[in-house]
This record gives sequence, structure tokens and C-alpha cells, in this order.
Amino acid sequence: MTVSVEATVTALSQPPTKAVGPATETDRDELALADQAFDFVRQFHTEQPGAGDPAQRIREVLAEIRETGTYRHTAEELAYGAKLAWRNAARCIGRLYWNSLVVRDFRHVTDPAGMAEQCVEHLRIATNGGKIRPVITVFAPDAPGRPAPRLLNQQLVRYAGYPREDGGCTGDPAGLELAARARAAGWTGGQGRFDVLPLMIQQSPADAPHWYQVPEDVVMEVPLVHPDHAWFADLGLRWYAVPAISDMMLEIGGISYPAAPFNGWYMGTEIGARNLVDAERYDMLGEVAARLGLDTSSPRTMWRDRAMIEINIAVLHSFDAAGVTMADHHTESDRFLRHIAKEMRQGRETPADWSWIVPPVSGSLTPVYHRYYDQVDPNTRPAFLLREPW
Ligand code: ARG
Repeated sequence: MTVSVEATVTALSQPPTKAVGPATETDRDELALADQAFDFVRQFHTEQPGAGDPAQRIREVLAEIRETGTYRHTAEELAYGAKLAWRNAARCIGRLYWNSLVVRDFRHVTDPAGMAEQCVEHLRIATNGGKIRPVITVFAPDAPGRPAPRLLNQQLVRYAGYPREDGGCTGDPAGLELAARARAAGWTGGQGRFDVLPLMIQQSPADAPHWYQVPEDVVMEVPLVHPDHAWFADLGLRWYAVPAISDMMLEIGGISYPAAPFNGWYMGTEIGARNLVDAERYDMLGEVAARLGLDTSSPRTMWRDRAMIEINIAVLHSFDAAGVTMADHHTESDRFLRHIAKEMRQGRETPADWSWIVPPVSGSLTPVYHRYYDQVDPNTRPAFLLREPW
């Protein structure tokens, strides 16, 4: 069933609940919100035909917006909206399973301690003993003039970085800034290469961030070993099991959820070709090449390429040995093309960003390399968006 424009017009022409006067910025905001709510509710009802009468729901939402300046998603709208945000994520190669996302509705939890507790619970549920489940936990949305609390972490689990006296970094350079903020807030981090950062939660722009150490028993980690090179274990490398992005804004029908951590499972190359390899991250190529005894005198010996492949072999082997879900880039590429075909059968496009979809090693060995994708429209919603600073 489609919703007519008349439904909107009827609702908008009902007697105003507010004092009559010149139109204001608030009116403009409400109109913009109503517009986005309209699109979302219509999409929700188109794709979920059992969800009742869309026209009635649209009138309800419009009335609520006029009354309160915002509106509240039903639990079903929230769950489906979060799944749609994943389905719309043009940079994600793992979208085949978008509809199986576990959505945890914690919109009522707004105190930092309660949020930290639910982030920990999120990790427990997502980790699932190594059989990783895609999960999102949705905390309170922003309301007009009342921004909701935020997680300052980029991911629920990430490693700290500490500046060294020689100008280098111990740990993950990507965790330098948060480690410094956490220490300023009173966290007493170690000096290790793989110290899990505390959760940092800020209730409002004026509020100092609160920090919470994630209990060790919920942070599953995998020590990295190589199937053919015993010395690889001596590098002392490890990585955590669950990549849970926590610094993006989930936007559904004009409502912004700034704290909505979500996770899938890792694809090996994220760790083996980027986190451990990028010069701005753990920068391990030189050490691995030396241990492999490669000739590093010229880039043309491809020592970097060879070292990187061995790291990737170690990452996949180690996660398998530890019984932790991890995709490889060959399998995940095939799945993504299956996803596109499946969507096409539903009459839907799959916008994708080629430069993010193609894996950072062996691109042309995967089928995702050899084609183009539907254009990405930056206005597509629901979506996971980069969060504006407060
Ligand atoms: N690339 C990021 C990392 O290495 C994680 C991004 C999300 N990845 C995922 N497989 N869901 O930590």
C-alpha cells in the first residue's frame, strides 16, 4: 500500500496545536523532520507489509512532531531502520546478512554508567563464544535542543597508543588521542602494545567524559601465530575478535541516534593488510620481512608484498584456530556479489563505493574488482553517518 500525499496534507491542515504566528525556525525544522519521517515510514510499510496502516502511522508521527518537536520510533521501526542503515552502507562488503542484525533497543538508558554496562553486554552477545553475531545497541536519540550522550571511542574495543620519547608510538597510533583523553580523565593505562582502551562516555557537551574499563573476560582476543613459521608468535601480536564501531550516528527518518555501537565480524585483510601494516598503525612489515629473511634492498623484490601475505595468512589461521568468526576476502567478495544479485531480484539497487569494497590485497583476484557499482547518493537514509562534533 502506498501513502498518498493527501495523508500529509490532511494531517498538516488539522488545527494547529501551537499558537498561531509567523513561521519560525522551529517550524522549518519540524517540516524537515516530517519530510524525512514520511519517507521512512512509507519505506518501512512498503517493505514490511504486515505493519498496519501507513497513512494512520504517518498522521500519528506528524501530530507528535507538532506536539513535541520530535517523534518516537516504534521498536519495529527502530529495528528495521537500523537494518536498512546497514543495507545502505556503501562501504560495507558484508551486507549479505543485513536482515539478521540483532537490534538492542536501549533508548531509555541515558546515564553513562548504564550505557557502559550495555556496551559490555553488547560485546558479550556479539562475541558469543567466538561465533560472532552482528549486533547494534541503540541508545537515546538527540532531541531538539537536547543532544543525547555519546561514546567517544571509535570502537567498543580498541588499543591504546602512547607517545614514546623517541617520537614513536607504543601501541596503536589510532588510539593515541583517546588514550590521552582517558588519562586526563583519570584512567591509569599501562604502557603495553595492546592495552584495551576504556569506554569513554560523555553525557553532554559541557560534561567531562566518564571512563569505564571493559572487563577482561568480555574482550575476546586472538594471539597471532603462523601455520609455517613458529617465530611469528614471538612478534607478540594479537587482535580483538569484535569490530564494533561506536563513533557513527545512526539516522532513521530524520531522527539521529549518536550512540548506536554496531558490529559485524572481521575480514582478515582489515587486520592483516591495514591495522598491522599501515605505516600510521602497527607498521609491522619491516620486522616481518627481516624474520622471513627477505631481500629488502629494493621495492622490486616485492618484500613488502610477500611480508603482507604472510601476515594475512597468520591472521586467518589464528582466528580459525581460536574458533573466532572471520571472513577472508575471497569468500566475502563472492558473498557481496550474491547480495547484489539478491537485492536486484527484489528490485533494489546496491549502491557501493568501489574503493572501499575492493580488498586492500589481491584486489584483482576477487570478483568485486572487475565491475562498477550503483552510484552512491549521499542523501540516502537510513544511514550510518560520520558524527558531527558536538
Ligand atoms: N576496519 C576496522 C578495523 O579494522 C573495522 C571496521 C568494521 N569492520 C567490520 N568487519 N565490520 O578495526
